[in-house]
Amino acid sequence: MMLSEQTCTMEQQELVNGLLAEQKYINPKFFYDKRGSELFEEITKLKEYYPTITERNLLTQYSSEIASFITSSAVIVEPGAGSCEKVQLILDAIRPKAYLPQDVSRRFLEAAVVNLKQKFPWLSIEPIVSDFSKPLQIPEDHRDDQLFVFYPGSTIGNFEPNDAVKFLKNMRQLVNEKGGVLIGVDLQKDVSVLEAAYNDSKDVTAQFNLNILNNVNRHLNSNFDIKTFTHKALYNTELNRIEMHLISTVAQSYNILGHEISFNQGETIHTENSYKYSLACIDKLAEETGFKRVKTWTDAKNYFSLNFFQSV
Ligand code: TRP
Repeated sequence: MMLSEQTCTMEQQELVNGLLAEQKYINPKFFYDKRGSELFEEITKLKEYYPTITERNLLTQYSSEIASFITSSAVIVEPGAGSCEKVQLILDAIRPKAYLPQDVSRRFLEAAVVNLKQKFPWLSIEPIVSDFSKPLQIPEDHRDDQLFVFYPGSTIGNFEPNDAVKFLKNMRQLVNEKGGVLIGVDLQKDVSVLEAAYNDSKDVTAQFNLNILNNVNRHLNSNFDIKTFTHKALYNTELNRIEMHLISTVAQSYNILGHEISFNQGETIHTENSYKYSLACIDKLAEETGFKRVKTWTDAKNYFSLNFFQSV
């Protein structure tokens, strides 16, 4: 099947490789088509999904303490800023010199900037549209400023631990010795609380997870039958991570771009991980990447942490 391989796009190749692996997997970037982004937005509003509300409360409650670390001479950079929602909770307290939201989607970012300009007319906003293939670039005129990276949402937990280290090392280079990072990290806790957050009673997370197959079908021109898969999220206590899987409820087989992709009944496709950290792990992460954790804010139940890392 040389011909079909030659005409494969990189994304198709990547998808097929994952589906041919011993443990089948799909890169989580394929979650975020239009429907996927809408469903993700819904996840963040679920009562079981504590991270968003807890982090928002921390940002609101401690905005003036945060402003004692990130002062008005600072420039805030937000990788993957999307709708720029959470930064709004701390902008008035900090009144930074500039805010640099970065995202891959120009349309999304431009809409967010219009909204921000209205709410914070005094704020200098300099959006950066770029994708993950090249490292984030700070505009020339801000290279000597005190730079802080804002990285909420426990997105760091969706990286493999070694990639989390790489990411933070890159951020350390970006901010130099005067700067730091304000980062939201979900904490290790009772398995029942964790599993409920990713197996919500309204099945929104299930729809979100299953929707990845719609997007894959579009990319591969395939016909994965969504009705024959179910969602499962489980906590892996050895690796301290929530794993999201799609379970094939029947034995089935597909021919995709000349490859036979077959499932045993009960076989899974691994779609995402969400690593949970302890404060000791967060310290280690900071130390390994040229930072020191100088302050952590947590909620009363110790579910979620907001950490301020200073460059060392
Ligand atoms: N980083 C968050 C988390 O792991 C948000 C998130 C990313 C998420 N992918 C997800 C939430 C998939 C639910 C399902 O919780």
